[in-house]
Amino acid sequence: MTIENRIQHLLSQMTLREKIGQMVQTHSTSDANKDLVRQGLIGSLFNEADVEKVAEFQRVSIEESRLGIPLLIGRDVIHGFRTIFPIPLGQAASWNTDLVEKAARAAAREVAPTGVRWTFSPMVDIARDPRWGRIAEGAGEDPVLASAMGAAMVRGYQGEDLSHPDSIAACAKHFVGYGATEGGRDYNTADIPERTLRDVYLKPFKACVDAGVSTLMAGFNEIDGVPASGNAFTLRQILREEWKFDGFVVSDWTSILEMIVHGFCADAREAAREGTLAGVDMEMESTCYLDHLESLVASGEIPQARIDDAVRAILRIKFRLGLFENAMPAVPQAPFAAREDDLALARRLARESCVLLKNDADLLPLGKSMRSLAVIGALADSPADQIGCWSFDRHLPDIRTPLAAIRDAVGEATEVRYVRALADEPAQSREADDAAIEATSSSDAAVLFLGEGERLSGESHCRAFLDLPAHHLDLVKKIHALGKPVVVVLITGRPLTIPWVAENIPALLVAWHPGTMGGPAIADLLFGDHAPSGKLPVTFPRTVGQIPLYYNHKNTGRPPIEVERKMPMGTPLDPVGFCSCYLDAETTPQFPFGFGLSYSSISYGPTEATVEGDSFHITAQITNIGSRAITEVVQLYVRDLAGSVTRPVKELKAFQKISLAAGESRIASFLLRPDDLAFHHRDGTYGPEPGEFQAWIAPDSQGGTAARFTLS
Ligand code: NOJ
Repeated sequence: MTIENRIQHLLSQMTLREKIGQMVQTHSTSDANKDLVRQGLIGSLFNEADVEKVAEFQRVSIEESRLGIPLLIGRDVIHGFRTIFPIPLGQAASWNTDLVEKAARAAAREVAPTGVRWTFSPMVDIARDPRWGRIAEGAGEDPVLASAMGAAMVRGYQGEDLSHPDSIAACAKHFVGYGATEGGRDYNTADIPERTLRDVYLKPFKACVDAGVSTLMAGFNEIDGVPASGNAFTLRQILREEWKFDGFVVSDWTSILEMIVHGFCADAREAAREGTLAGVDMEMESTCYLDHLESLVASGEIPQARIDDAVRAILRIKFRLGLFENAMPAVPQAPFAAREDDLALARRLARESCVLLKNDADLLPLGKSMRSLAVIGALADSPADQIGCWSFDRHLPDIRTPLAAIRDAVGEATEVRYVRALADEPAQSREADDAAIEATSSSDAAVLFLGEGERLSGESHCRAFLDLPAHHLDLVKKIHALGKPVVVVLITGRPLTIPWVAENIPALLVAWHPGTMGGPAIADLLFGDHAPSGKLPVTFPRTVGQIPLYYNHKNTGRPPIEVERKMPMGTPLDPVGFCSCYLDAETTPQFPFGFGLSYSSISYGPTEATVEGDSFHITAQITNIGSRAITEVVQLYVRDLAGSVTRPVKELKAFQKISLAAGESRIASFLLRPDDLAFHHRDGTYGPEPGEFQAWIAPDSQGGTAARFTLS
């Protein structure tokens, strides 16, 4: 029997109440809920870590409910289960879809035996505001990069066969526009015009749907006055009718009920009606569906066919996962030991996620034969902080910190002087400061670990200021004044505003929250066993006053005129030419999207564009002019010079990771199809428009030379 036949057969035996039960999801393993499972009134359990409790609920559902429909067990496995990989923003900085897919595969293989066959990942919300704590969970600001990362994660979690016991269903979230939250404040309103919604925010979701994602999660936010969890335009018209999505949509945690607080629904009954009619098939945590769908169907406010569609979609995923054949957890208890090959993968991904932002006079890599090295900063030895947000299942003893890894790397010949200064605490002790200064002055060099710990990142962890705490910066300045070589490693879940560090400290490496193997990965780079290859997936602003600051902005009628500021930021200048500028800050970023250095230099030859059928062949010669082998993320950007609506100043269209031996030259080549130039027009149609374009093959969003081409 085909899956569709099995669904139909099952559906024909279900009462309305049992159908509604499939649309209900809870996280609580209370006795009352166990009884609901027995009555067939719960379809999914989530975020229960105790494998025995999961097994018991699953057993009750299969053995004691009338139809024996298995539960779908979900969990937030966001960047690894037992083996923790870098936060998704860090993974995106690797621009390595192959590694990202492998990491998702490893996470699926680790968690599936515990009975969890569904993760609430990938988060593919475009984020242009680093104040938003959840920027850590996504791929940053660009739709092409986020699409590539999201699709890679979907492939990794779901594998080639969803019914394989090592595969789990993925969930692209939060549909849609959650990342456009005003002011970077979580759960806030998002105001997105339809064209931007389609050309920017929806793109990565479409990529996940094309990659076969099983489920989507509706967001907490509203868009244009309609909550995302009650939005028939996005959930029905776009997702089902235009994209032909055949999996199911789950709400976010109580987001159906919250439509009352939004001022969109008068009560829970109306919230159940709006959510269901809009296309949210399963309600997470709140019980509007359980409490009201039956009477809404009886009164004719919700057609029976809509309930059947929702249940069909949920059962489809349960059948595809093979839950009717095998749903019980295979292991008695989690967590279990991480595998060596997974740890090696985590190390490699963490290494490729690091971005070298500055390396004056080739200070890095450090030699391994120093007499002494000061390692300053609590973040050098804080397992939880290097893991970052959303990792319930980490096992802290597994985590290898930078301090331990630096000690291992240099061996006994180098004295490593560690001082736990720069802690993420309101006041810092004088003794720690003095000890940090003393350790640096008596060492050959210092590595400072700065940034933000896990408690400053993730859901509901938004920041109005992105600076280092004042007392941290004071100490950094004092250490810098000693005249020793100083390297800063930034441990962070988001871009921070670090103008003084960026201008004064000679070497700066961003490691994000790098995960279980973050320590060894950082040491691999600090001492040159490997060369950095990461590039920024998001713009680093100079000050929060510039936000939102993203590379693919519009030009305006009066674009900024860049002037060389001779005064510190915050000091007003005279106005420059009545253009789109600030009086007291530059308009350029501290570090642009796509930027990242390595231990060798790359020269980019001129970009050339040639016609190839109806497409364009864009090429440039790329040469490693340094003395070390490196891997470079080569990026293709395009600008549509005049459109029926204004077009961004640059848009990333494609990228490649190319390895080059010292002195080696290669031709980087991209095929640009008309479809790659498509966008939504004023009349709502989608496609490319004839006219003049520029293309850059570039090391980042600001570099490279432009070639012109014409689409006729
Ligand atoms: C709320 C978050 O917004 C969502 O991303 C997460 O998956 C759910 N809670 C479940 O924990």
